[in-house]
Amino acid sequence: MNQKIRNLEINPNHWYVVARSCEIKTQPVGVILWNQPIVLFRDNDGKIHALEDRCPHRQVKLSHGKIIKDSLECAYHGWQFNPRGECVEIPYLAENQKLPNCQIRNYPVQELDGFIWLFPGEHSTEIKPEIKPLGIPEWENLNYIATVSLIHCQAHYSFLIENLMDMYHGHLHQDWQAWTDAVLEKIDEHPHRVDAEYQAQSYYKIDKIWSISQLFFPALRQLHPEPLAVSYIYPHWVSTLGKDFKIYCLFCPVSLTETKAYLIHFTSLHSFWRLHKLPIPFRRFLKNKLFGSAQKLLDGLVQQDVKMIEEEQQAYQNNPEQKGYEFNRTLASVQRLIQHQASLS
Ligand code: FES
Ligand SMILES: [Fe+2]
Repeated sequence: MNQKIRNLEINPNHWYVVARSCEIKTQPVGVILWNQPIVLFRDNDGKIHALEDRCPHRQVKLSHGKIIKDSLECAYHGWQFNPRGECVEIPYLAENQKLPNCQIRNYPVQELDGFIWLFPGEHSTEIKPEIKPLGIPEWENLNYIATVSLIHCQAHYSFLIENLMDMYHGHLHQDWQAWTDAVLEKIDEHPHRVDAEYQAQSYYKIDKIWSISQLFFPALRQLHPEPLAVSYIYPHWVSTLGKDFKIYCLFCPVSLTETKAYLIHFTSLHSFWRLHKLPIPFRRFLKNKLFGSAQKLLDGLVQQDVKMIEEEQQAYQNNPEQKGYEFNRTLASVQRLIQHQASLS
């Protein structure tokens, strides 16, 4: 394993996820993406904007301020900045004084499928059309029940993506994992993605109305083979287990040693064809009502993974030269992809 990977930058010319939509309400919110403090806020129409989180007057954080009409007002002296980052108001400006030309950086940002996607690349005016936010079509789809868990770990993002691509670590989760006995069958490697296919034994089958009780009564689970696919679609991750489950991990790398990410778990209701004939408002009600039904499970898995990932980071910091041993070929592909993307930044 190449340990230099733990010091690699991100390729900023992609869309990263910096928050959930529901986290940005009527107050500005400060986030950090790869060492860059950014303030997110909504204008009067609810449209989201992102600016550098720094008042050019005295360098304090604009995220302490508040929103006045479509502008962001600094908490300290009340200077106001429009969504382009231009100073548009200084409350104590004398008649013979002019507004300073002190524009701060604004970031391309969009709200899509329940999340806020931000493009931190330098050449924001020329985002290539093929570079798009990953998108989560299941988010609005009435046939999918979602659960979201926040991953926050003190580790380089490569440790997290390696954990997510290495299905041999199901061992860690024991009874909590939805599958067991993964066997790697195929890897596809491209400059912007790695797809790995495993064959696994799944514990859950979502085909009866009482299927959910398998979560609580292990005796109801029956092992059966299902394909388990994982993809690193730089910089994010997607996985499917058979037809019943889909999981996304949306990355917000904070720094070389800190990573935030959103794990979104979907259970499919495609087997319940009777349900699909019910009125849409009822189906929407059901989808909302069942939101978060895998919360305990997902949070538990995340906690176990974070512990391992942080320990790997610690061990690396204590002895960066220490070599490990690896039998899963997927991880070498993942590291090549990280290296390639970092070289483009
Ligand atoms: S520091 Fe922001 S207005 Fe003075
Ligand atoms: Fe895990």
